[in-house]
Amino acid sequence: MPQSTRDQIELLIRARTPILYAVSWEETRVRDLVMEIAKRRNKKLFEWSVTSGLSPAGTPIQAEKGRSPATRDPLVALDHIIEQMEPALYLLHDFHPFLQKNNFAVIRRLKEIAIHLRNSFKTVIIVSSVVEIPPELEKEITVVDVPLPGTPELSGLLDGIVREVNEAQKISIQLPPADREALLKAALGLTLTEAENVFAKVLVQNGRLEAGDVTSVFAEKRQVLRKTGLLEYCETQEEFGHVGGMENLKEWLRKRQAALSDKARDFGLPPPRGVLLLGVQGCGKSLCAKAVSALWKLPLLRLDVGRMFGSFVGSSEENMRRAIRIAESVAPAVLWVDEIDKALAGIGGSGSTDGGTTARVFGTLLTWLSEKTAPVFVIATANEISHLPPELLRKGRFDEIFFVDLPTEEERKDIFRIHITRRGRNEKRFDVAALAASSTGFSGAEIEQAIVAGMFDAFSAGRELETGDVSRELAATVPLSRTMEEGLAKLRAWADGRARMAGAGRGPTR
Ligand SMILES: Nc1ncnc2c1ncn2[C@@H]1O[C@H](COP(=O)(O)OP(=O)(O)O)[C@@H](O)[C@H]1O
Ligand SMILES: [Mg+2]
Repeated sequence: MPQSTRDQIELLIRARTPILYAVSWEETRVRDLVMEIAKRRNKKLFEWSVTSGLSPAGTPIQAEKGRSPATRDPLVALDHIIEQMEPALYLLHDFHPFLQKNNFAVIRRLKEIAIHLRNSFKTVIIVSSVVEIPPELEKEITVVDVPLPGTPELSGLLDGIVREVNEAQKISIQLPPADREALLKAALGLTLTEAENVFAKVLVQNGRLEAGDVTSVFAEKRQVLRKTGLLEYCETQEEFGHVGGMENLKEWLRKRQAALSDKARDFGLPPPRGVLLLGVQGCGKSLCAKAVSALWKLPLLRLDVGRMFGSFVGSSEENMRRAIRIAESVAPAVLWVDEIDKALAGIGGSGSTDGGTTARVFGTLLTWLSEKTAPVFVIATANEISHLPPELLRKGRFDEIFFVDLPTEEERKDIFRIHITRRGRNEKRFDVAALAASSTGFSGAEIEQAIVAGMFDAFSAGRELETGDVSRELAATVPLSRTMEEGLAKLRAWADGRARMAGAGRGPTR
């Protein structure tokens, strides 16, 4: 447990704060911490859960003695707390369901307790992974965010496990400092129990623990991330050389290549927060997001915004907070929020039917965007502005908003060259200038599509791909920009003066 959290809680207890709310996924860890404080301050410790009722801490789950089944009722339990005279701490596990609306009696009783406890040596500590505080109690409850274990705590855990294994199996595991450090760093973001499980599992399976096992620890983290349903690690083959045009954006990103490093921090640079790429579909926004992680040599995490809708299991503030913490634990990292406008479309529409969950989950994300200090670079993309709430576009969320327009003729040359080369052809054998000239209004994705379609033609005709195959495809295609001219004009009008141009300039519409 970080010293600061323990000190913070102890200080609050000494200041006779009546009700604390410890936000954590780790009941055991919080209990150990509170137990320590109770011992030091000479107070008794009681625990409550809806299944066991109120009992002295450490009462075995099978024990009858010391339990009073009647106190399973939260109201009865609260009465007991008022009646008891001695100095004590009361840990309430998963009490939050009783703080929800309609639990008038419990909420009222807690308020009375808050007043009563101010003149006593008793403190109530609610432990839950979810923050659920009714407005009536906002003034009475002090929230303490218990962070996930840091390196010192994980280090203690690792030592303990290694010692145990060495004793039990009569083998000797020596961890060189560099391996140790790599393992501990990989375990950041896990709860103590999760870290313990993965360390133990690797030890049992391999009979050793070394830097190479970092992958196992990462696999565990990937699992935890998957469970939140919101974030995933992304493997990508894309690189910066695959992105045609967008020189301004690329330059901006290139300049910040090492900006998340310790060296940059020591230099006094603020870590870049993130960018929003707004613009025409198929023009390489997602591609850029993937490529930047390769350029910066940082892990890429993708936030599944579709899952922010209430109907999905993964959607809750709790999961969002967990996802954010894990993202911070793998930092420095790139966090990719693809098509953020899609998720937000739900806030006005379906959002009203999910009890506002989407809005709250999104609010958690927004708050983090403006307050985050960890070196997590956010790259968000959006195709439309009509769904984007103004608070997302407000200063301080992103460093820049880049507008990604259709590629200009020069940029299209670039894109043709890239895709011809990526398909193992020599671009010198193609009339790239002619292709670029005859693809006005085409997006990068449509250019790529024309090349692929041309390859099918050439292949079925039994010959090599040539310029004519691609230009025939171009001629037969109506680019999306032509059918969506009106939407495009609106987007450009919005971006004018509000966003920076990602590319050389405005690609002509026809
Ligand atoms: N500027 C570009 N340079 C190279 N390829 C591009 C470009 N824009 C689009 N493409 C191709 O089209 C595909 C789809 O583009 P994508 O990045 O998904 O567009 P967006 O996210 O803007 O809708 C990319 O994976 C890439 O192959
Ligand atoms: Mg995209």
